Amino acid sequence: MDEGTRHLFDDPLIGDVIVSEARLKARISELGAQITADYAGRAPLLVGVLKGAFMFMADLAREIALPVEFDFMAVSSYGSATKSSGVVRIVKDLDLDLSGRDVLLVEDIIDSGLTLAYLRKNLLARHPASVEVCALLLREGLQKHDPDLRYVGFSIPPDFVIGYGLDVAERYRNLPYIASYKGT
Ligand code: IMP
Ligand code: MG
Repeated sequence: MDEGTRHLFDDPLIGDVIVSEARLKARISELGAQITADYAGRAPLLVGVLKGAFMFMADLAREIALPVEFDFMAVSSYGSATKSSGVVRIVKDLDLDLSGRDVLLVEDIIDSGLTLAYLRKNLLARHPASVEVCALLLREGLQKHDPDLRYVGFSIPPDFVIGYGLDVAERYRNLPYIASYKGT
């Protein structure tokens, strides 16, 4: 494990650290500064995709020096546990009206990009002024179409990852870093 990694709890299925707590903090601070500059004079609406993005969104928002507003949506994608089908069901919809708003969609990880493609189309249909995407992680080389991400935290190799919001069967979301997962 990296120097300074908070071990949190013992579990043999927690693999190597992919992105340490310190690197997360530093990159999120950069993203926040960039978003602050890009949206100067505006009050963006951060839309978090539950549950994976909750921790990233909380930390990112504290690095944006603008009067941001928050909303959340929860989606579940049809398909197997590890493969997205692109058919998405909205489990919890937004509370706020998007018309005329500058929407910044906050996602945990872009894998196939199918979930994002659905969400973008869905949000654009609500007549916002703009829709941009901020993804903490981008899995390299797996997207069939350009996912068109305005902000990306880290590009990562194909291994399945856990921690910092990302789960396996609801576990590991509280790890303060991103790790590989040693289970199947
Ligand atoms: P996509 O539609 O294939 O892009 O799937 C994206 C969603 O799958 C993410 O929002 C995550 O919820 C989930 N996901 C994809 N890869 C991982 C991973 O490595 N760990 C945990 N969840 C993942
Ligand atoms: Mg998710």
